Amino acid sequence: MATKIKRSWAEPYKMKMVELLKMTTPAQRKKALTAAGYNTFLLKSEDVYIDLLTDSGTSAMSDRQWAGMMMGDEAYAGSKNFYHLEDVVKSVYGYKYLVPTHQGRGAENILSKILIKKGNIVPGNMYFTTTRLHQELAGGRFEDIIIDEAHDPDNEFPFKGNVDLSKLDKLVKKYGAKKIAYVSIATSVNMAGGQPISLKNLKELRAYTKKHGILIIHDMTRVAENAYFIQQKEKDYGNKSVKAIVKEICSLTDGATMSAKKDALVNIGGFLTINDWNIFEEARNMVVVYEGLHTYGGLAGRDMEAMAIGIKESVDDDHIRARVGQVIYLGEKMKDYGIPIVRPTGSHGIFVDAKKFLPHIPQTAYTAQTLAAEVYLDSGVRTMERGIVSAGRKPNGENYFPKLELVRFTIPRRVYTQAHMDVIAESTARVFERRHQIKGLKMVYEPKYLRFFQARFEKL
Ligand code: F0G
Repeated sequence: MATKIKRSWAEPYKMKMVELLKMTTPAQRKKALTAAGYNTFLLKSEDVYIDLLTDSGTSAMSDRQWAGMMMGDEAYAGSKNFYHLEDVVKSVYGYKYLVPTHQGRGAENILSKILIKKGNIVPGNMYFTTTRLHQELAGGRFEDIIIDEAHDPDNEFPFKGNVDLSKLDKLVKKYGAKKIAYVSIATSVNMAGGQPISLKNLKELRAYTKKHGILIIHDMTRVAENAYFIQQKEKDYGNKSVKAIVKEICSLTDGATMSAKKDALVNIGGFLTINDWNIFEEARNMVVVYEGLHTYGGLAGRDMEAMAIGIKESVDDDHIRARVGQVIYLGEKMKDYGIPIVRPTGSHGIFVDAKKFLPHIPQTAYTAQTLAAEVYLDSGVRTMERGIVSAGRKPNGENYFPKLELVRFTIPRRVYTQAHMDVIAESTARVFERRHQIKGLKMVYEPKYLRFFQARFEKL
């Protein structure tokens, strides 16, 4: 007999150790937030109950990864953990050559310096903060070629990470293919809300770039999560494993930068991987200048071992179903409370639409920054602004005014429980109830680069 009972997502692991958390009072949180200049990045983690600042480096490692840490070969050169990592990167992702780096931005720095010349254009499916900054510092200019749907939080299109090929074609016609350094493609587009790109779109992009002799560089930070959405939503992929889909995505691009602190389930680490020998040669030279020898790139042997094991775990179907399942569970709860969130729910967090949540606070009074501060005050849940503060300034000094003004509730992997998800939704709903009384902020200190990390605010 067919049953109507839905099968719930559940974790393919159990707990072996727990980390105790400190509970705080409203008065303590108010004090902590004021001391932090209303910037959740400047809070002490001790003062945070549920930490949704980022999914970066915050995952819980498995017993196997911890065992791998004990197998660290801490040699300056030629550590066996490097060779293990190299094997895993080649076999799981399929790229040819590997250069380890301390984290994603280390790889972005090196690759941008190699591939971008002054005056070059770097088209991409929405900017990411560190990625774009390295492209700009290398002399390039980022151009957004993501589909318009990605800028509309209410649009339910399942692949809002897709590239609008007509936007790319316009740039190629205007500047010539030689001026395009490469096309910068992120899987599971972070700033759009963790929205996936489809394989159909990627194949079309591959065909187009091949015709024009343009490289595709893949920001593969959350590629397994993107692959899961392809498996769930794209025609003809329902029966493919996440592992197979990941490999297919990578095969359509020429190289990648990776922040292994996300998908790959480690607390620190990253790499650059590429199919072209000459680019690899140059990267291997440069890594020595900026990161460390080409067989450790700023990492300990044990870090590389944990990364190699984490990569294998990250493409397991049961793992990724539970990971994204938990995020979707929180999204459904938020929607039930009427909280405006980016739809469809993305892979690594819930992105609350601050413009809709606090329509009386203009972007110039930092709508999302304000909301992140209020959520912390309510319950000690720490979230992150992804709006005008994160967008920063153009090279000419003007503010970027991004269409999306969001607060990101980022879910670390394998860390929090379903009851934590309930607390998060309930707390946000309580702030939503008193939203009309909330006032905006003014910025009183602005750092030059990546200002969202260290900027300070006061209540208006
Ligand atoms: N690319 C993407 C898509 C990212 O999300 C990040 C980091 C990076 C590159 C840079 O990697 O931090 O290892 O140097 N994102 C973190 C976040 C910081 O919170 O979204 P990194």
